[in-house]
Amino acid sequence: MRAKDIRAKAGEEPITMLTAYDAPTARLLDEAGVDIALVGDSVGNTRLGYDSTLPVTVDEIASHTAAVARATEDALVVSDMPFLSFGADTGDAIENCGRMLKEASADAVKLECGPHTVELTRRLTNIGVPVQAHLGLTPQRENETGLYRQGTDEESARDLLDLARQHEAAGAFSLVLEHIPANLAETVTEALSIPTIGIGAGPECDGQVLVIDEVLGLSERTAPFSKRFGDVRGEMAGAIGDYVDAVESGTFPAEEHSHHEDDLDDVY
Ligand code: KIV
Repeated sequence: MRAKDIRAKAGEEPITMLTAYDAPTARLLDEAGVDIALVGDSVGNTRLGYDSTLPVTVDEIASHTAAVARATEDALVVSDMPFLSFGADTGDAIENCGRMLKEASADAVKLECGPHTVELTRRLTNIGVPVQAHLGLTPQRENETGLYRQGTDEESARDLLDLARQHEAAGAFSLVLEHIPANLAETVTEALSIPTIGIGAGPECDGQVLVIDEVLGLSERTAPFSKRFGDVRGEMAGAIGDYVDAVESGTFPAEEHSHHEDDLDDVY
């Protein structure tokens, strides 16, 4: 899958996107036919033990992207550029984004956008780095906006629509819309020819994205707009508890898990 294939799906067929941070999960996504595997900076909260996405580094995203790309055949692999890896110096931003494609085998990058990313989107697109824009709630700005719904008044809704149009004109191949009113997401979707992919943005977007840990039921908490489709946390807790019980009670290892001296010829 290439960025242009995702772009062509706008208004045609629903786009599926999930976060992935490691090879085994990426392989499952790929086998299930998920269109986009996003190596989200949510890796900071979900896997690295940070309490926000802000500490995530370019090296961490590159390492997780490489693992996901190694396990993916069809899905588009998108690296989520971390806080301060873009937006300050254009040269540094291009180098950081380029690293994802050169070193980690990503197919595209995602930028949490604002007025400062329009020109960068144009530069990256022109040199062959496909850009997925992200508007609405952009958690890298949590110190400024909090982690609340965005686009809830007329002025901010107009600004968001305007920025969406600017990023489309600059060459973005798709747009993530996070935690905005469903009617605003519908307006943006109708106004653009690139696909919108919503998270907490209602059903009228061209596609949907969720954090894999919430879908699996692996995270302790789930965002109000998200949905658990499984109970992996419960499964893991059960298996770990059963292992502890088995070792403590002496039922593991059993005879079939053990070797004896007369088997040594088979082993060596
Ligand atoms: O990092 C992430 O998981 C994201 C999605 C919520 C879109 O940016």
